[in-house]
Amino acid sequence: FIYLFAIYLFIYFRSKREPPVDKGMIPWLGHALEFGKDASKFINRMKVKHGDIFTVRVVGRYVTVLLDPHSYDTVLEDSGSLDFARYAQVLMERIFRLQLPHNQLAKSKEMMKRHFAGMNLAALNSTMSRNLHALLKAKAHRNQKDWKEEGLFDFSYSLLFKAGYLTLFGGEQNNNRTDPSTVYEEYKKFDGLLTKMARSTLKPEEKKTAQSVQKKLWELLAPAGLTDESGSSPWVHAYRRLLQEDGTDEEMQNRAMLMQLWSTQGNVGPAAFWLLGYLLTNPEALVAVRREFSQISQMETTTGTPLMDSQVNTPVFDSALEEALRLTAAPFITREVVREKILYMADGRQYLLRKGDRVCLFPYISPQMDPEIFHEPQKYKYDRFLKQDGSAKKDFYKGGRRLKYYTMPWGAGTNGCVGKQFAINTIRQFVYMVLTNYDLELCDPNAQMPEINASRYGFGMLQPEGDLPVRYKPRNAH
Ligand code: HEM
Repeated sequence: FIYLFAIYLFIYFRSKREPPVDKGMIPWLGHALEFGKDASKFINRMKVKHGDIFTVRVVGRYVTVLLDPHSYDTVLEDSGSLDFARYAQVLMERIFRLQLPHNQLAKSKEMMKRHFAGMNLAALNSTMSRNLHALLKAKAHRNQKDWKEEGLFDFSYSLLFKAGYLTLFGGEQNNNRTDPSTVYEEYKKFDGLLTKMARSTLKPEEKKTAQSVQKKLWELLAPAGLTDESGSSPWVHAYRRLLQEDGTDEEMQNRAMLMQLWSTQGNVGPAAFWLLGYLLTNPEALVAVRREFSQISQMETTTGTPLMDSQVNTPVFDSALEEALRLTAAPFITREVVREKILYMADGRQYLLRKGDRVCLFPYISPQMDPEIFHEPQKYKYDRFLKQDGSAKKDFYKGGRRLKYYTMPWGAGTNGCVGKQFAINTIRQFVYMVLTNYDLELCDPNAQMPEINASRYGFGMLQPEGDLPVRYKPRNAH
């Protein structure tokens, strides 16, 4: 009896020290269905029930969701007990059918950091600018007088994808095999199936489509970084060499290229769409960004040098972008517990995390959509991140304490986004070019932003359900 009582006490106290557990009604699957349908709604429901930390069962795994931004550093700074790579490898296998050794991920990341900083970044920015110019020009000719109509999401995603693909992976525009439009068409099909691949919920016919699209994309990416003629960036050449030196076979190399295509192109287009969409549906914001851009454009005319490639200050644009990302960047920041850990919350609570479970931060709910931090969080306010004097506002509070993380579109800590600066520069160049050289307006002046596709919560930038119809023509055409 004493023995049984001891076990009871052990289980009782152990569970007392753990976050509240919610297993869901369905055995093993747990909350998987609700989670996959609309993760944000589900996590909000759990938050109301359990508070800012709880553990849910999803497809046999226990996932502890932490929603207190004051406590995020306890997770982000403990890469000893909380591992980034294991879950990343699970996703790599599911989405890209890719297996790469653990140490190679670290090496390629170090290499990537070098290629997306300093002089290398400056070179990438100017190649990107050239490609964007050429693609925009091809879309709307100088003497085109009539409006062209298109969905803004399609417009932004296709242009930025193609420019990004040409800048990083190369491919001749007159060579059909690696024509960026062909790559984009296939990529869009792949992107449409991505969340189901990640959750292993493809229907049999979707599985077939996914496999054939993957195969086509591997073939299209096969020349990238192989020869000087491929036109690939120094980064893709170096990445290809790294894979070769590590003895990765050709098939796996191409799968790795597809993963890199996704990680470098999957978020930029959608982010630019949300920003342009919010500007067009908020005339006051559009006027403010246009005013800042026109000052720069005047300086460019006077000095004769392109300024957008460089470190020119654009606080209004920066705030408008940060606000768009606050509303539409919704990554899960997931780590696997590889060693039992006590999680110390900022308010003094302590919880035991079990080895083998996962921990997930969802900054979209807090800080980003937290009404205690942002007044009327659903509303787009372009100047939320501006101070009275026009400089960047960085002080935001929760529970009376200043927040270190008040938005987290790029993740944070050692696994934060490597391409952040490149992405920001790209979006800035794109929006600048579109607003300076083109007339762009909503087809229906009273149109609202489209709804969010709820199945994409957790995968980085959100995407719209449907599109926002716009029309455009070159500025000087009458
Ligand atoms: C608007 C555009 C982008 C957004 C919102 C974004 C966001 C993110 C986020 C949230 C993470 C994960 C952090 C984590 O799990 O802790 C990440 C990782 C990463 N991003 Fe981005 N990203 C963007 C564009 C780019 C671009 C253009 C590149 C490359 C040039 C890039 C390269 C990477 C890489 C390599 C990682 C993995 C870092 C690692 O292995 O630790 N991203 N990004």
